[in-house]
Amino acid sequence: MKTASAALAAFLGLSFAQLAPAADEAALSELQSKGKYLSAAGNCVSCHTTEGGAALAGGLAFETDFGTLYSTNITPDTETGIGSWSLEAFTGAMRRGERPDGTHLYPVFPYTSFTKVSDEDIAAIYAYLKTVTPVRYTPPENELSFPYDQRWALGLWKTLYFTQGRYEPQTAQSAEWNRGAYLVEGLGHCSECHTPRNFLGAKDAELAMTGSAYTERVEGKASVWSASNLTSDNSGLAMWSHEDIAQYLKLGFNERAGVFGPMNNVVVNSTRHLSQTDVDAVATYLKSLPANAQASAGPADDAVLRAGSLQYDIHCGTCHLPTGEGSAETGPPVLGSPVVLDADPSTLINITLYGAQLPETAPSPEWQGRGWKRMESYANKLSDEQVAALLSYMRSAWGHEAGAVTLEQVARQR
Ligand code: HEC
Ligand code: HEC
Ligand code: HEC
Repeated sequence: MKTASAALAAFLGLSFAQLAPAADEAALSELQSKGKYLSAAGNCVSCHTTEGGAALAGGLAFETDFGTLYSTNITPDTETGIGSWSLEAFTGAMRRGERPDGTHLYPVFPYTSFTKVSDEDIAAIYAYLKTVTPVRYTPPENELSFPYDQRWALGLWKTLYFTQGRYEPQTAQSAEWNRGAYLVEGLGHCSECHTPRNFLGAKDAELAMTGSAYTERVEGKASVWSASNLTSDNSGLAMWSHEDIAQYLKLGFNERAGVFGPMNNVVVNSTRHLSQTDVDAVATYLKSLPANAQASAGPADDAVLRAGSLQYDIHCGTCHLPTGEGSAETGPPVLGSPVVLDADPSTLINITLYGAQLPETAPSPEWQGRGWKRMESYANKLSDEQVAALLSYMRSAWGHEAGAVTLEQVARQR
C-alpha cells in the first residue's frame, strides 16, 4: 500500500504527508474516474481533438477576429504534450492561463471560466489526463496578426479583463444552486459562448448570458452563430421549465427544442455525461438568472410581414404549425423559441438556410425516438428577400417582439 500511495503522491507532485493515509490504488482510480467526469463537464475533448484526430492531441483551428489559433496537445506525451507538467504547472494553466515558463495563454482556452474550478477538481482532471494514451503530435503554428501574435501582450489583457479565483459559494443560495453556478460559470464555461464580448474579446458582465455571436466551424464550414439568451427573458428561456432545461442537456431534446449546430458538441461531448443531479443543478441556476436582453432592431413594415406570413405557412407551418406551436409528430414549437427571438438572428438564419444540422452521435436513445420530421435546408428554395421576410414575420407573430431580419443579415450567412 505504501508504494502505491507514494507513487500517487509523487505523480501528483504532492508530498506523501499531504495525501496519507487515504491515498492508495483505489483512491487513485477513484480520482481518475472523477477526473474523467469533470473533463467531460469541461468539454476538453471538443476543443482539443480534430476531426479524425487522436483524442486530446490538439490541432483544432479557432478562427478569431485576430487570426487563427490552434489548440495544444494535452495528452501525456512528454515532448509534444503535457506529460512532463507537474500538477502545479497544470493548475497554473487552468487557474491563471499560464504555461510553466510563465508565458500567457490565449483566452480561447476558457481559463477565464476554469479559474473558478476547485483545487481538488483540477487535481482530479490532472490525474485523469495522465491515463490518456500519449500521442506524439505538434499542432500547426498559430497564424495571428501583429500585435495579437505577441503572448506578452496578453499580460496587459489579463490585467484589464481577467480575475483569477476559485468559485465563491453564495451562502444565501441552496447547495443545488451553488453546484449549478459552479458548473455553469466554471467547467461548463457556458458564458464563453453565451455572454457578449467587447472588441478586445472581454466578456460584458452587465449582459452576462444574454447571448453572443462568434465564428464556429460546423460540418466543415466556418459560419457566424449566435448563442441564445439563457436568462429568463422572453427572448431567452422564459418558456423553458426546469425539466425542459435538464432534459435538453441530458437527452439532447425536450418538448421545446432539439439540439443542432454548435450545441451538438456541447451536449454530445459534455452535458449528456453529467449526472441527473448535476443537470438539475444547472437548470436550477439558469432558471434563477433574472431576465435581461440586448437591444433588438425594430419590426419590419406590414407589407414585408404579410409576404413573410405567406412564406411561413407554405414552408414552415407544415411542421411548426400556423400557430407556431409545433407538434410531437412534426417539429418543436417556434413560439417562444430562444433561437427565433435572439437579438442577433444569425443562428435563426443558419437553421433556415442549412436546415437543422443534427449531431452525428445520438445524444441518447430517447433522442432517436423523438417523433419529429427532419428539417431540411431552404437555401435553394428561398431568396434572401424571402428568408428575411419570413423570419421577420416569425419574430413578430404570436406576440413575439424581436426585431426585423434584414436582407444584408441573410446575405452574410449564405
Ligand atoms: C473552447 C475551447 C477549449 C476548451 C473547452 C478547452 N481548451 Fe484547453 N486550450 C484551448 C486552446 C485554443 C489552447 C491553446 C491556447 C494558447 O495557445 O495560448 C488550449 C490550451 C490548453 C492548455 C495549455 C497547454 C500548453 O501546452 O500550453 C492546457 C493545459 C489545456 N488547454 C487544458 C484543457 C483542459 C484540461 C480542458 C478541459 C477541462 C480544456 N483545455 C478545455 C482550447 C480549449
Ligand atoms: C461553443 C459555444 C457554446 C457553448 C460552450 C455553450 N453553448 Fe449553448 N448555444 C450555443 C449556440 C450557438 C446556440 C444556438 C444554436 C444551437 O442550438 O446550437 C446555443 C443554444 C443553447 C440553448 C437553446 C437551445 C435551443 O434550441 O433553443 C440552450 C438551452 C443552451 N445553449 C445551453 C447551454 C448551456 C447550459 C451551456 C453550458 C453547459 C452552453 N449552452 C454552452 C453555443 C454554445
Ligand atoms: C419537416 C418538418 C420541418 C419543417 C418543414 C421546418 N422545420 Fe424547423 N424544425 C424541425 C425540427 C424537427 C426541429 C428541431 C431540430 C431537431 O430535429 O432536433 C426544428 C427546429 C427549428 C428551429 C429551432 C427551434 C429551437 O429553439 O431550437 C427553428 C428556428 C426552425 N426550426 C425554423 C424553421 C423555419 C423558419 C422553417 C421554414 C423555412 C422550418 N423550421 C421548417 C422541423 C421542421
